[in-house]
Amino acid sequence: MTLNHDPALDAGSGLPEETLRELRAIGARYPQARSALLPMLHLVQSVEGRVTSRGIEACADILGISAAEVSGVATFYTMYKRRPVGDYHVGVCTNTLCAVMGGDEIFERLKDHLDVGNDETTDDGKVTLEHLECNAACDYAPVMMVNWEFMDNMTPQSATQLVDDLRAGTEVRSTRGARICTWREAERVLAGFPDDRADEGPAAGPASLVGLGIARERGWKAPEGRTAGTTSGTPGATAAAEQADTSRAESETKVEQSPTDTVGGKGDETSTGEGKKR
Ligand code: FES
Repeated sequence: MTLNHDPALDAGSGLPEETLRELRAIGARYPQARSALLPMLHLVQSVEGRVTSRGIEACADILGISAAEVSGVATFYTMYKRRPVGDYHVGVCTNTLCAVMGGDEIFERLKDHLDVGNDETTDDGKVTLEHLECNAACDYAPVMMVNWEFMDNMTPQSATQLVDDLRAGTEVRSTRGARICTWREAERVLAGFPDDRADEGPAAGPASLVGLGIARERGWKAPEGRTAGTTSGTPGATAAAEQADTSRAESETKVEQSPTDTVGGKGDETSTGEGKKR
């Protein structure tokens, strides 16, 4: 696959040459180069602190699409920001369940405490506050996120302490274990450049695994998988079912190894530790 690479455009983009090289490297990962746009925009954010016009132009030039197409994507997804984001993007889930469990109260408290409105950044440039829709972590409501790491079972008090710690430069961990990095560092990971910390903290907490435990107790199994164009009983279907069983077994083994099955997981009321998503 050939990506557009016009040195004259690089010189005029205003982005560092290293960033342009990495943008092209992301594009080369995909059979259809335009599929790379989402991680490329994350990389732009990691360098620019937001999706800038020159970042849009660079993505368009490299992918051979129009700036309007790039802009259309960047303005559709809420994880792409056109205004500068602080060192820490603090999200408060105010969707239905979190809202009634205290999310609305937390959001109002933080607006007062930080003296900012929704999608605004504190004067010191440290914290950007935003209300979020459901984070698919309702079993830990009310939920917050810092740079897309989960903060479970929050209260107005723990929320204010959290932002105070972030602004003071104190090391903060997700309630699931991961150390909180800066928003730009997190954006680089989302662009596909790992920071080798993916295994900090468990993948799922105890409350999220309750259904799995019940299924095991009762011997429930997922239906056998099928591949397109095959029917049950054919060699293809049998192979697909075996593949599904293997994948399921591997998945369950991973869950069994999760630290949350032992101690210290968030949701364990005896835990004093804070317990991650990645
Ligand atoms: S409603 Fe907040 S995580 Fe689902």
